Amino acid sequence: MRKGKPSRTAYKVALNLVTLGVKPGMDKVLPPGIVEATERMLLASGAATERVVRWSRSPRTVAVYECFDWMLPGQFEAFAHRKAFCECQVRKGIAAGATQVLVLGAGYDTMGWRLAPEFPDVEFVEIDHPSTANLKAKGVEVMGKPGNLTLISVDLGERKLVDVLKSNEVWGQTKQTVVVAEGLLMYLSAEAVKELFHQCSAITGAGSRVAFTYVPTGEDGRPDAGRWTRLMLWFLKVGGEPWLWSTRPEELSAFLEEAGWTSAPDLLGPTAKHSVEMFGVAMR
Ligand SMILES: C[S@@+](CC[C@H](N)C(=O)[O-])C[C@H]1O[C@@H](n2cnc3c(N)ncnc32)[C@H](O)[C@@H]1O
Repeated sequence: MRKGKPSRTAYKVALNLVTLGVKPGMDKVLPPGIVEATERMLLASGAATERVVRWSRSPRTVAVYECFDWMLPGQFEAFAHRKAFCECQVRKGIAAGATQVLVLGAGYDTMGWRLAPEFPDVEFVEIDHPSTANLKAKGVEVMGKPGNLTLISVDLGERKLVDVLKSNEVWGQTKQTVVVAEGLLMYLSAEAVKELFHQCSAITGAGSRVAFTYVPTGEDGRPDAGRWTRLMLWFLKVGGEPWLWSTRPEELSAFLEEAGWTSAPDLLGPTAKHSVEMFGVAMR
């Protein structure tokens, strides 16, 4: 990440969601209320100006994003499917008895803010790097922070998740939990991803699940971003948020098992892949 600067990729995801809100048909995919809440979050946090949000809301911007899809075909719409997948996993997890939701690398995601009032008996906890989390916290304060939403600002590269949550009074280490790692794991090293899953098993109870997205490994061993992989990886690297981890889908089960989780492809829902990103669910 660029030192001291808020995450550019989190900003891009949020702006894309605003634009997806004006793309015909996307209302059937996007979780209800997400577009309006994201606009408010961007403005209230100061992450985006009124002008940028207005530009993002314009149907012409849909065409602009669709033009950029040449590099990662389908990526623009994939953000809507990714959000829908994560929210669906959280709702299913709560219906199955989870009383905690942990969103890792939350960016400007509004799921916690939107769902906390709907599920007053569930604790929603979000973690993000201070450069982004501090802006987001400002936005949440302005929009009204639900009592059962906790925002934690920490660099997970510097502090262990177990230590961060152990010292937090709202967290229950043995509670059934849904952990969300959306658009995060590819930015961590392989060791950090394994360690993160290990730690997630140490801070959650039986019946917990992790909903995550990941990038598959290509034949050359690099993250597979399709036809323009080399260019795409270069863009990410110079932007300060390089992709570091990917895995082959057929190796995912063994990877998760080593970290104390079981892959649960039957819980995935209708799709396991959108554009370059794959969806995964792990259970314990
Ligand atoms: C691609 S963005 C995804 C944001 C959000 N999950 C979404 O999909 O809307 C990646 C997020 O991971 C966070 N992140 C990256 N490295 C991190 C670290 N070492 N500790 C905490 N958060 C980190 C960034 O700040 C950013 O918000």
